[in-house]
Parts: sequence; structure tokens; C-alpha cells
Amino acid sequence: MDSAWNPTLYDDRASFVSELASELVVSLRPKAGERILDLGCGTGTLTAEIARYGALVTGVDRSEEMIATAREKYSELHFEVVDGQELAYSNEFEAVFSNAALHWMLRARDVVRGIQRSLVPGGRFVAELGGAGCVASVTQAVTEILNEWQIDPAPYLSWFFPSPGRYAALLEAEALTVRELRYFERPTPIAGADGLATWLSLFQPRLMADLGSRGPELCDMASERCRPRLFRDGRWLLDYVRLRVIATKP
Ligand code: BEZ
Repeated sequence: MDSAWNPTLYDDRASFVSELASELVVSLRPKAGERILDLGCGTGTLTAEIARYGALVTGVDRSEEMIATAREKYSELHFEVVDGQELAYSNEFEAVFSNAALHWMLRARDVVRGIQRSLVPGGRFVAELGGAGCVASVTQAVTEILNEWQIDPAPYLSWFFPSPGRYAALLEAEALTVRELRYFERPTPIAGADGLATWLSLFQPRLMADLGSRGPELCDMASERCRPRLFRDGRWLLDYVRLRVIATKP
């Protein structure tokens, strides 16, 4: 994850990220004594949930701030600062798990290669990430505003949101066997009348920092443009699309 992440804000306002992933932990089926890598673990909430099954979990994240908070919250668990695009493990884990993290890692081929190498033969990869079209309305609104302000949007809003076909091809090319692949819309509620502004400060911290005093203006304008599609029954429901995958190493 990005070095500008704010772990406190993340735990306070983005708890929905881990709350929505309990089902994913169930499909991981962690077993006591299994070595499991939680890739892009953030502040460690799901790492701890997996550890409750008795698995030996290692949580890794690129953000030093996130890992510092994870270590404070769960001093009994093992966390490392590691970039998921540069995994150096070899045949070390029965499972690699990842929730809402892989779309931040733009070198997807390197990530999948590292996951494959990290797994023992027969090991499994269980993950959820954003799929093609995820947050398209928000991206479109913010891109339009930045263009109007003559600011290049290219350094921001860049995620890896693959289609199911593209992701399956990538996994197969790196010698992983796809067992399950689901592609689905999951409108995601964000609390508060200022929900979109909160979301932008959480997930686009660098853009907000670079805009300085214009940040709130961008949030207001983006909220107005997205409101007809994304604000329903008094709350924001962002246009999330998910890709959920289970793959195994032969
Ligand atoms: C997510 O964490 O799921 C997410 C992050 C950025 C854009 C869309 C989704």
C-alpha cells in the first residue's frame, strides 16, 4: 500500500473493508498449524481473524505505517514490511490470502509470480480484489474535474482492476490452476453525508495532499457529480465490483 496511508483513519472509517471479508476468510478454511501469508494485510484485522483458527500467519504490507499499527494491535502476531510486487518467499506457505490489496499492486505479473513461488505444491491462493469497472463513476468524476483544472490525472486513481478473463489468463500463465472465479457487483456503503469525501481521503491520500486547499472543493464537486448514481436512501453506496478467486499450485 501507499506510504501516505493513515492507519488511524483507516481503522476508524474503513472498517467496512475487513467487515465485508469475513466470507473470504471462511473460503480460505484456515487450519491449525498451517502457514498462511496475508498479503497486503493493512492494520492486521484479518490476519488476526485467520490466526484465531490456529494458523501461523505472517502479515505483510508495503506501508511501514500500517505494519507499525498492526504490530501495536497484535503484538503476538508476525508482521513484515514487504512489497507484494517483490515477494521473496519460496515454498513457505500452505496458503496465500489477500483482501482488497492486490488492486494497489500494478505489477500484477510480478505479484502472481511471487505468490506462486511462495506456495508449497498443493498450496492455495484465496483472494478478493477490485474487478473491471470498480469505482468507475468516482474515477470518471474525479478525472473530469482534474482535467478541467488542467491537472494530469495519470499519477492518481491508478488501480489494477482486471476482468475475470484477464486475471484467469494471468494466473494460468504463472502456473496456478483456477478453481473458482467470481465477478460481481458489490455496492459498498460509506457512512456519513460526506461519505465520498471520506473515501477520497482514505483511498487517494496523495491526491488530497497534492491538492492542498483545493481538496475539499474536489470532494464537493465529485460528490455532486456522483450523487445521482451513488447516493441512495440517505447514504453513499459506491460502485464496487469484485473479483474473488481460489487457485492452487500443482
Ligand atoms: C478497495 O479497497 O476495495 C478499493 C480501493 C480503491 C478503489 C476501489 C476499491
